Amino acid sequence: MEPKATPKESPLSKRMDRDVMQNFLKAMPKAEIHLHIEGTLEPEMVFRLAKKNAVALGYKTPEALKEAYNFSNLEDFLKLYYQGLAVLKTKQDFYELAMAYFQKASEENIVRAEVFFDPQAHTSRGVPFASVIEGLLEAAKDAENKLGLSVALILCFLRHLSEQEAFEALKQALPYKKAILGVGLDSSEAGNPPSKFRRVFAKAREEGFLPVAHAGEEGPAGYVREALSELKVLRVDHGVRSEEDPELMEEIKARRIPLSVCPLSNVRLRVFPSLTEHNLKRLLDFGILVTVNSDDPAYFGGYLLENYLQSAEALDMSAWDVSTLAKNSILAAFLPDSEKQRLLKEQDAIASDFL
Ligand code: ADE
Ligand code: ZN
Repeated sequence: MEPKATPKESPLSKRMDRDVMQNFLKAMPKAEIHLHIEGTLEPEMVFRLAKKNAVALGYKTPEALKEAYNFSNLEDFLKLYYQGLAVLKTKQDFYELAMAYFQKASEENIVRAEVFFDPQAHTSRGVPFASVIEGLLEAAKDAENKLGLSVALILCFLRHLSEQEAFEALKQALPYKKAILGVGLDSSEAGNPPSKFRRVFAKAREEGFLPVAHAGEEGPAGYVREALSELKVLRVDHGVRSEEDPELMEEIKARRIPLSVCPLSNVRLRVFPSLTEHNLKRLLDFGILVTVNSDDPAYFGGYLLENYLQSAEALDMSAWDVSTLAKNSILAAFLPDSEKQRLLKEQDAIASDFL
């Protein structure tokens, strides 16, 4: 499904005011495909779980912790992100963490959430793999049954750790392989190229996991090339630095490789100096299947709807642009074609009501 040019004299080509845009975007069924469940750990939950699990914190109040969320780069953020995880200890903690996100997602009319989790960040602290996955799976089941939200889990390997440690995480996941949709690659990008994980991704693909990877967030366009050629990823997470390589841009466009872009994250981690300088709209106009996502919303100042709204405002997007982004989220999701068609039709009906 190729994107069509914006109709010149249609309501779709117009800007909407913020309230209408908000109602429109909220009404559109959407998928979120780049969300770290650990990145939804809100300061209030950090404090509540710290008390319950007798974990000492270096901050006096949730507000004081929030004030520390002023990051210079990805590495700086990851330090706080890993520190915060110390409060997650039991299966119930993971259940509550995930359920809180699913509740919020459902309120924003997210109908499909493909959620990353970082098991190595927990097993390295002595939390059993089973506590993590079973808490998340139980929440996913309840989200499906009680909220009508479709959920998939994607296990991320931490790229600052070794290939051998990634193999160990994969081994722990095998008994749950029917319940885990894919594997991903996250954490410190610079100096940890996708090729470091070529063999573990090959094994994961052989076992039936769908491959994705963070690439071209802080790392160069060459890492996006490697993720495609060596890890055989079906989507690239972030991928914004692909723009530095015109041939790569053509390849991503021609192959309809989705980029899961996270605008507020990119500004908070200083990948772009401001939202007005973000390349989201350029990627969209180029014809790439680009999507909007929230990454680690508890740290970056907004969940999915806020990412859409702030981007639309900063980049002067039309109703056509934002509805294309919402459609792309469905097209990029790992859903059966029949389900995608059903959701796209629902979106068309909502668009024609609004426009
Ligand atoms: N882990 C959590 N958020 C991440 C991001 N934006 N990049 C890499 N690893 C992450
Ligand atoms: Zn991410």
